[in-house]
Amino acid sequence: MTSALEIRNLKKSFGSLEVLRDVSLNAQQGEVICIIGTSGSGKSTFLRCINLLETPDSGEVLVKGELIKMKRNKNGKLNPIDQNQVDRIRSKLSMVFQDFNLWSHMTILQNVIEAPIYVQKVEKKEAIQNGLSLLEKVGIVEKASQYPSSLSGGQQQRAAIARALAMKPDVLLFDEPTSSLDPELVSEVLKVMKSLAEEGRTMIIVTHEMGFAKEVSSKTIFLDEGRIEEEGKPNDIFNRPKSRRLKQFLAANL
Ligand SMILES: Nc1ncnc2c1ncn2[C@@H]1O[C@H](COP(=O)(O)OP(=O)(O)O)[C@@H](O)[C@H]1O
Ligand SMILES: [Mg+2]
Repeated sequence: MTSALEIRNLKKSFGSLEVLRDVSLNAQQGEVICIIGTSGSGKSTFLRCINLLETPDSGEVLVKGELIKMKRNKNGKLNPIDQNQVDRIRSKLSMVFQDFNLWSHMTILQNVIEAPIYVQKVEKKEAIQNGLSLLEKVGIVEKASQYPSSLSGGQQQRAAIARALAMKPDVLLFDEPTSSLDPELVSEVLKVMKSLAEEGRTMIIVTHEMGFAKEVSSKTIFLDEGRIEEEGKPNDIFNRPKSRRLKQFLAANL
């Protein structure tokens, strides 16, 4: 079976700082993989390398079995060969960020339909219809004509999730989607994410919400100093951690 997303032996340094040291991941269609780890362990860099917001120093990224073509330049660094391929594949990997990153000068609906219309060339009427149904799905359709600043953080993040879904992505990438939220707003966002998991969407989620990771993920990865220190079924990771580093991390974070 072809994986929805496969990362092989990814390495990335910033100057002399080795941030990712040979990280691999394989997500089957419908899998939910949660990535946990301390701040600075390379989680965001890993997600950014997956959708080529950062170029890995080495390694391979395959989306639905399609290898993103890269070659080494004379300094030995990888570069994508085909920008069209990168753009096409990136539009199939929607990312949701910690700080929502909504466009503040656009209404919520405009935020959701912008990329489908201008990147994917979807007809406006169809984009609006789909956009409204996605806003309905995340529970904020009544906010469609409002601007992001008039929404709560939880509502803004749900709008950002609707915007990510509007691209009809093969894989959803989440980078600490609830870390900027007031505690009382976290659960409304996790609830939406849980419903996406139940729909069988493929998701890679960096999170500090251990209860969520334990409940929703099909596999949990503990990233430590740029390496996968331990990975497995959430029940094993959270209830039967093997490595000393993971035990320490859980003691501090559960
Ligand atoms: N663009 C960059 N330039 C230099 N260093 C970076 C850059 N991005 C991240 N880093 C460094 O890489 C390490 C891992 O960062 P990051 O991937 O953001 O970790 P995490 O998301 O797990 O907190 C940190 O030490 C961070 O300072
Ligand atoms: Mg991060």
